[in-house]
Amino acid sequence: MELAKGGRDANGLLKAQGHVWYHTFNYISSMSLKCAIKLGIPEIIHNHGRPMTLSQLIDALPVAPAKTAHVHRLMRLLVHLDFFTLQKNEDGKEGYMLTPASKLLLNESRMSLSPFLLMLLDPVLESQWHFLHSWFEGEEASVMETATGMTFWEFMAQNAEASNRFNEAMASDSRILMGCLVTECGEVFQGVGSLVDVGGGTGESAMTIARAFPHIKCTVLDLPHVVATLPKTTDLDFVGGDMFESIPKADAVFLKSILHDWSDEDCVRILRRCKEAILPNEEGGKVIIVDMVVDTAQADPKSTQAQLCSDLVLMVLGGGKERDEQEWCKIFIDAGFNQYKIRPALGLRAVIEVYP
Ligand SMILES: C[S@@+](CC[C@H](N)C(=O)[O-])C[C@H]1O[C@@H](n2cnc3c(N)ncnc32)[C@H](O)[C@@H]1O
Repeated sequence: MELAKGGRDANGLLKAQGHVWYHTFNYISSMSLKCAIKLGIPEIIHNHGRPMTLSQLIDALPVAPAKTAHVHRLMRLLVHLDFFTLQKNEDGKEGYMLTPASKLLLNESRMSLSPFLLMLLDPVLESQWHFLHSWFEGEEASVMETATGMTFWEFMAQNAEASNRFNEAMASDSRILMGCLVTECGEVFQGVGSLVDVGGGTGESAMTIARAFPHIKCTVLDLPHVVATLPKTTDLDFVGGDMFESIPKADAVFLKSILHDWSDEDCVRILRRCKEAILPNEEGGKVIIVDMVVDTAQADPKSTQAQLCSDLVLMVLGGGKERDEQEWCKIFIDAGFNQYKIRPALGLRAVIEVYP
């Protein structure tokens, strides 16, 4: 592109402008999706049970009469983004149907990712991004601290509503991922008689493990304010505590979406506590980690982008990071572990077994 020669490469210039516009507009995809969830569009189309025409959708939506003419504009974008598809109904008219992605946005479904999307796009968390450049110039560990003066966990401890939203968002992820884990990688639980899910939140992951492998005695460790809000259950033992202080003893420690929240130094401290909690390798002791292993060479560019964006989410909110294999290996060695095995079998996430 030769701007210096009077901008004669118009094609190159306009392509570059398109690239900038495309990325400037990126947040509009997620905000439009949020709008569709808030209006209940996935539910309405799902409940209709067959292709739903625009006029049927408008009739079913809680939109003001003056806004009905704009519904097709929102739907046009969401069809383009593959969240809805257009199919002919029995009268030969085109109507909206769900796609595999929007089936994961049904509010009433146990397999809904809406809580995850609504948590990350909540104005309090979403507004943190406006402080990213100030964070680069300051000393705080996370953008959240630059913006609010509190760490993510301090903020959650003081905001019951945000904390519940966060816990429900994590539980929604666990409901989807853990079913896949126990069916696709069930062998990682072979020989395990007791397991402690560290930072296990509402116990969704531990519950899936306990149901799939009833012989495993499952304990959930989480912060006291999280455990205090949970209903009692006979299937799991809940312990309120601090994983940096001590972890209940078990054959295996399970860490899903935990280590990515913390710096390398903190991960080494947590992993040392895990090592104290488990049996030696010869007796079957291990740590089972479910987290991303960043791979920028993978075939699907959308997966790479999702991993790299998740890394920035962690930088902004909590001061953690997504790690590649080398980074994982270093913290395992620093914490005194001898061996590890990665199974990249869970979409964006992997299962890592770490042995003392
Ligand atoms: C990202 S969430 C993951 C929750 C759950 N493992 C999952 O994947 O659904 C991190 C969890 O760690 C818990 N946590 C944070 N600091 C902790 C600490 N010092 N000790 C124990 N749990 C902690 C949080 O309350 C939260 O439930």
